[in-house]
Amino acid sequence: MAKPKVFATHGLFDAARKILNEACDVEYWAKPERPPREEVLQRVKDKDGLICLLTEKINEELLGAAPKLRIAANVAVGFDNIDVPLCTKRGVAATNTPGVLDETTADFAWTLMMAVARRLSEGEALARSGNWKNWNLDQLVGTDVWGKTLGIVGFGRIGRAVARRASGFQMKVIYTDAVRAPEGVEKELKAEFREMNALLAEADFVSVHVPLLPETRGLFDAEKFSRMKPTSFLINTSRGPVVNEAALVAALEGGRIAGAGLDVYENEPLIHRGLKRANVVLAPHIASASLETRTKMACMAAENVVALFAGKRPTNILNPEILKST
Ligand code: DGY
Repeated sequence: MAKPKVFATHGLFDAARKILNEACDVEYWAKPERPPREEVLQRVKDKDGLICLLTEKINEELLGAAPKLRIAANVAVGFDNIDVPLCTKRGVAATNTPGVLDETTADFAWTLMMAVARRLSEGEALARSGNWKNWNLDQLVGTDVWGKTLGIVGFGRIGRAVARRASGFQMKVIYTDAVRAPEGVEKELKAEFREMNALLAEADFVSVHVPLLPETRGLFDAEKFSRMKPTSFLINTSRGPVVNEAALVAALEGGRIAGAGLDVYENEPLIHRGLKRANVVLAPHIASASLETRTKMACMAAENVVALFAGKRPTNILNPEILKST
C-alpha cells in the first residue's frame, strides 16, 4: 500500500525523520530560510499530512489548497497559527507539542530575567568593545534578583517551572491565572495567588506565560504597565501579541517600568525600534531552542502524524472530535 504523503516545512532532525520516514512518504523543505507561502500552498496540494512550524498559517487559504490533508502537526506548543475550529470543520487533525519544552523555556525566562536585571547586554557590549578602561564601584550597577518578588502571569506547566526555580533565589512567588492552582501545587511551589492588579502592584519581575487567545491579546496595555512598580521588569517568553508593544515602549520611555526581557514580538520577525534600548534584553524567539528540546518537539510532531495514519489517536490532538467523525 502506498504510504501517506507528507510535507514537512522544515528538514527536522534525524530522530524525527527516522520516525516519519518509516511510515510516510515525506517531502522535506531543505532550505535554511522559511518556505515562501506560495511554495507551501503548492506543496500541500497532494499531501495527506503536514508538519509545520509556527511560521505557517493553517487557515482557509491553506486548507483550501490541500483537499486531501488529514493532519497539520505543529512543531510548537502554541498553536495560534492554526485555525483549529476550521480544521475540525474540514476533518483535519491539528496537533501541538506540549510538555517537552517547559523546563527549557523556563530556563530561558530566567536567562532574560537575570540578563536584564544585571545589565548583561550592556556589560557584554562593553567587554567586547575594547573600551573597558577600568573597574569602578558604580559601573553597570543593576538590580538584585535574589530575594525579590516574582510575579507569574499564567500558572500552567511553564509558569510553574519558572516558579520552581525561584526557591534557590530566595524569592517570594506570586501568581495569577484564570483558575487558581490546587492547594498542593501552591504549597509545593510556595506560590501565592493574587488577582492580576495586586500581582502587578507587588511583583519586582512579571513573567508572562499565557497562551495567545482572543482574551489575552493585548493583555499588557498602558493600564497594566501603569499598575507595575517603576522598579519592576517585564519578561515575556509567551507570545508577542499578548503585550501591546506601543504601550510597552511608552512605559519604558516614561520610566513607568525599569526594563524588559523579551523573546517574542507582536509582528515577528520585526522588532519595534522603541524596544532597542539599553534596559531591554532582546532575543529572537529562542526560549525552547536547545537541541535536546527542539529534537523532542520534532519527534513529537512526527509521532502525532504516524499515529493518525496508523488509525490511532495522536497523543497531542487538539480537536479529538474529528476522530469520531472519521
Ligand atoms: C512554542 O512551542 O510555542 C514556542 O513558541 C516555540 O517553541
